Amino acid sequence: GVPVSIDLSQIQPGQQISFFWQGKPIFVLRRTEQALAELKNPGLLARLGDPDSAVNQQPGYARNWCRSSKPEFMVLIAICTHLGCIPLPKPDLGDPTMEASWPGGYFCPCHGSKYDLAGRVFRGVPAPYNLPVPPHHYATDTTLVVG
Ligand code: FES
Repeated sequence: GVPVSIDLSQIQPGQQISFFWQGKPIFVLRRTEQALAELKNPGLLARLGDPDSAVNQQPGYARNWCRSSKPEFMVLIAICTHLGCIPLPKPDLGDPTMEASWPGGYFCPCHGSKYDLAGRVFRGVPAPYNLPVPPHHYATDTTLVVG
């Protein structure tokens, strides 16, 4: 497939962009310091189905605590590992449909699967695996290449 280059220089902390690569929706989120710290929260890790990314859902270089090659930027294929719907960002702690302890992440509207801000799946939801991480690297400090 043809790689896609994306300029990240205008993306603010907390902002997400999406685009297509090989016909698949890709989400790129510039994670805040708070979001990065949350990825290491033992309370969160205890609620995840595969906190160490043991299942091969990412390139080897992204099998780390943030599941990406640059911690600040989350790069995910936004296809739910249950039946393929597109999960939605759910940052709104005040959303009454979300549990009070929800730390933010992605919520699949089809059957309620939940993922954190590294695409790691929560336990007890239909989705069996973490969201896939596409092959990616940086051509410059702010130019992401997917593919
Ligand atoms: Fe996402 Fe079923 S497709 S929960």
